[in-house]
Amino acid sequence: MQTNAPTHIAMILDGNGRWAKAHNKPRTQGHVEGAKTLKKMIKALEKTSCNVVSLYVFSTENWRRPKAEVDFLMSLPKRFKKDIEELSDASTGIRVVFSGRKDRLSEANQSLIDSYETSSRANTGLIVNVCLDYGFKDEMVHVTQQIAKNVKDGLDPAAIDEAMIESHLYTHPLPPVDLLIRTSGEKRLSNFLLWQSAYAELYFTDVYWPDFDETELMKALDFYASRERRFGKVDA
Ligand code: FPP
Repeated sequence: MQTNAPTHIAMILDGNGRWAKAHNKPRTQGHVEGAKTLKKMIKALEKTSCNVVSLYVFSTENWRRPKAEVDFLMSLPKRFKKDIEELSDASTGIRVVFSGRKDRLSEANQSLIDSYETSSRANTGLIVNVCLDYGFKDEMVHVTQQIAKNVKDGLDPAAIDEAMIESHLYTHPLPPVDLLIRTSGEKRLSNFLLWQSAYAELYFTDVYWPDFDETELMKALDFYASRERRFGKVDA
């Protein structure tokens, strides 16, 4: 185990479509393989000292994809029900939380999500933060609306500080991101956890998400272990 290990890892799961194309398969098959990789990754992370993993499974921008692909992605929470239940079955199993807008999801998905969150609430294992219909700009709108309501009710604007903003984030009370991994060769943050990742170490790999495995995870953890995190200060 690494001496300098991340508590919170965020993952941008990119390259499902290109993986499918490279294997002459439909894009949807890339997403199925991606979801299988997710399960393997959760099992691999359970063996590390990481406490939280945030997964970018559907962004606020992903609604712009063809309807058939959106519908398929939205069928995955149900399609992988058995796997999610298996991972969160024991009290030491994973705790599932969701970050993002729930109001644009189908009623079926909203209640499925609620049931995953509720049934795993007391679990003490890895926290799996599923970012579904998540976008940082949307999160900022949500935070601003919440605080503006409080100001209307008498809150002094001078009392607004970082802690207050944090308390309204979808991800509250999860800790900040230590390591952000993006697969598939793209080097962008794509509106993902921008506040939470303010001091994250960024790791980019060319591997497509469906091919990301435990060996690739270890490479990312080794990269993290080699970094000196100064948080704006000078060397110790
Ligand atoms: C990015 O690959 C991947 C996604 C937009 C979806 C990620 C989803 C999963 C891993 C499965 C779990 C999903 C849900 C909703 C529970 P891409 O399609 O952008 O790939 P490309 O850039 O190669 O086209």
